[in-house]
Amino acid sequence: MTGPDPRDDAAPTAGWRAVDLIAAKRDGAELDEGALAWLIDGYVAADGPVSDAQMAAFLMAGLCRGFSDAEAAALTRVLVASGDVVDTGGLPAPVVDKHSTGGVGDSTTLLVAPLVAAAGATLVKLSGRGLGHTGGTLDKLEAVPGLRTDLEPDELHGIAARVGCAVAAQSPRLVPADAALYALRDVTATVPDPALIAASVMSKKLAGGAPTLVLDVKAGRGAFLPTPDAARDLAGRCARIGHAAGRQVAALVTAMDQPLGTAVGNALEVGECARLLAAPPRGRLAAVALELASHLVAAGRQADAERPDAVAIAAVRDELARRWAEGEASERLRALIAAQGGDPAVVDDPDGVLPHAPVRRAVPAPRAGTVRAVDARAVGELVARLGAGRAAKGEAIDPAVGLRLHVEVGSAVAAGEPLAQVHAREDAAADAAAAALLACVEIGEEPVEAAPLVHAVVG
Ligand code: URA
Repeated sequence: MTGPDPRDDAAPTAGWRAVDLIAAKRDGAELDEGALAWLIDGYVAADGPVSDAQMAAFLMAGLCRGFSDAEAAALTRVLVASGDVVDTGGLPAPVVDKHSTGGVGDSTTLLVAPLVAAAGATLVKLSGRGLGHTGGTLDKLEAVPGLRTDLEPDELHGIAARVGCAVAAQSPRLVPADAALYALRDVTATVPDPALIAASVMSKKLAGGAPTLVLDVKAGRGAFLPTPDAARDLAGRCARIGHAAGRQVAALVTAMDQPLGTAVGNALEVGECARLLAAPPRGRLAAVALELASHLVAAGRQADAERPDAVAIAAVRDELARRWAEGEASERLRALIAAQGGDPAVVDDPDGVLPHAPVRRAVPAPRAGTVRAVDARAVGELVARLGAGRAAKGEAIDPAVGLRLHVEVGSAVAAGEPLAQVHAREDAAADAAAAALLACVEIGEEPVEAAPLVHAVVG
């Protein structure tokens, strides 16, 4: 190594060179916080000493050699320090936050936020937009006419205090280094590293300011991590980073092999959530939302930092199911939408308020049998191609397009029975999506057992 040893605390930062740190990582060294801070700050700063090529090489070296827990925690602190931290002081306790690692038909935030608010907690959530095959909460909310997500910090605070929940776009001042790194990871095949994902997720959660966090770490075909074991490893890393920062963290490893809800597409998902909140919880999307909310509320109410036990969580689950069935969560969703400038009538009349796609196409089952799989990733990709998602950041999307699934794994279908209904802007797009949907749904002879919705809880 030609420069100073990056692992030597006494090494003068001015003497560091990116090439030496890349080589150290390539050769399996563990870098300390000083070295990581020098690299990240040197990459993010305008005209800094670390180029795109060098940061990409460093990330790939780390992905191949692995990052330790200490490196992931240090990286998280460096990312948080690159921007502002949200002030949640003065909000009614407990203040909680949730995060999903990204899925298809996963609109749990639209259910969890009003539900935890109905139970007296305050949820302040900074969300992202959909990218690739996964959807984003901001895109879904913005399908509601008039609704704004570009809230100033004071506005966010005020709405959260009044309504019990607020969901806003992440400000460019919040963890800007993560935004820069994520954009580079996205185009250099360095997203699926558990330490990099953990640092990215946890930096945003720590900067979000909530003391109690629940993470929904997805596992399966439609997730970043294909297996429950890999997702459990990520969940553990996130929890350890959060605990070291003094936060209460539970991470649920949940299934993302098939779309979670029956709707995929922005307005369609808002409509599904409004309809779900109008009746007692039912179906997989409601079950996962109820589980996430139960962990959040139970942990938030726990005075000490201990994880609530199963009995406490079960009691909260019963309470939340009752509040849901009695319309309290629906009422909070109405208040949240109104406070953020949207038309609250959407909660009672989603079809009358949300934008519609002009072309609807039923997709009939080609044969009778049992649905053995619905490929979440392929469904997410076909819905993105319809216009509901974007291939690159900043692209415009169509809030109205998407599809409604009429089947899930385990459903028995007759030949010709509709598997789904595609909502498209044009006939040609509807035809292409219908053909693609057929390839996503596997129909077989044998009955199939549905996989568990929650694989593990890591706390
Ligand atoms: N979600 C994030 O916020 N960051 C990642 O790196 C992956 C998923």
